[in-house]
Amino acid sequence: MSSSNPYQDDRGNKDRSITNPTGQGTAMPRSKSGAVTSAPGGPFLIGEAMTGGYGKGPDILHECTIAVDRGEIAVIVGPNGAGKSTAMKAVFGMLDVRSGRVLLDGEDITALTPQDRVVKGMGFVPQTSNIFTSMTVEENLEMGAFIRKDDFRDTMAQVYDLFPILKEKRHQAAGELSGGQRQQVAVGRALMTKPKVLMLDEPTAGVSPIVMDELFDRIIEVARTGIPILMVEQNARQALEIADKGYVLVQGRNAFTDTGKALMADPEVRRSFLGG
Ligand SMILES: Nc1ncnc2c1ncn2[C@@H]1O[C@H](COP(=O)(O)OP(=O)(O)O)[C@@H](O)[C@H]1O
Ligand SMILES: [Mg+2]
Repeated sequence: MSSSNPYQDDRGNKDRSITNPTGQGTAMPRSKSGAVTSAPGGPFLIGEAMTGGYGKGPDILHECTIAVDRGEIAVIVGPNGAGKSTAMKAVFGMLDVRSGRVLLDGEDITALTPQDRVVKGMGFVPQTSNIFTSMTVEENLEMGAFIRKDDFRDTMAQVYDLFPILKEKRHQAAGELSGGQRQQVAVGRALMTKPKVLMLDEPTAGVSPIVMDELFDRIIEVARTGIPILMVEQNARQALEIADKGYVLVQGRNAFTDTGKALMADPEVRRSFLGG
């Protein structure tokens, strides 16, 4: 019975690491032009040349590509309404793309439902409604483990190690927590599936600069455990500072793609998107 559960087969092991080792590896070479390819040895997760919109509405994304390599943090920035969240939803399967595809570790997962993508190893923290406010912190984490049939207590302990405040508040309703603490609950919930890759949509939205720095530190910590991170950020400057790769989206299109460092140094990117 439990052996028919793909999750059980895949991860019901004694690995104490929060990550799945198959998500780790040496960094892949990236093209100098910033172009992203899905050739063998390409990014661990890529939404490639995605075109599509909501329902029968107009296309929001136009051949949009976002990706993250093994061992890296990739950051998506751009003005409000640029399609950042839409691109994340497309990669997670919450939006049908009319053309383009999504590859996870080289496998075409374009046709999979979001839940099947979770089983494949994708963790997603959406921009809004990312926790159950009336449930306790611990219940939220348990909900995060919904696809697991194995013992997830070790993973919960790891999440509490990463976010000690959550352990302290584990019996409190998540809705009573501060904005920064709620985001920790949301990230912790996503980690409960032991994802191979983590997608975060504006994890620092609405928090103070100090809390933002702290959240970024924790995100870097998660990345260091071997989980590649693809995230959208409105704090473009700070996010690009920690980004191995950065994507600037404008009107559903890739405007600039490069290393975080190179984007920060690009006069045009600075002028148009980083406030000079
Ligand atoms: N659920 C939806 N249904 C229809 N249009 C939407 C929906 N969500 C977003 N949009 C539209 O898609 C465009 C991009 O939005 P979004 O991806 O949320 O931008 P960003 O995250 O970059 O601020 C906007 O024009 C927005 O109005
Ligand atoms: Mg958004």
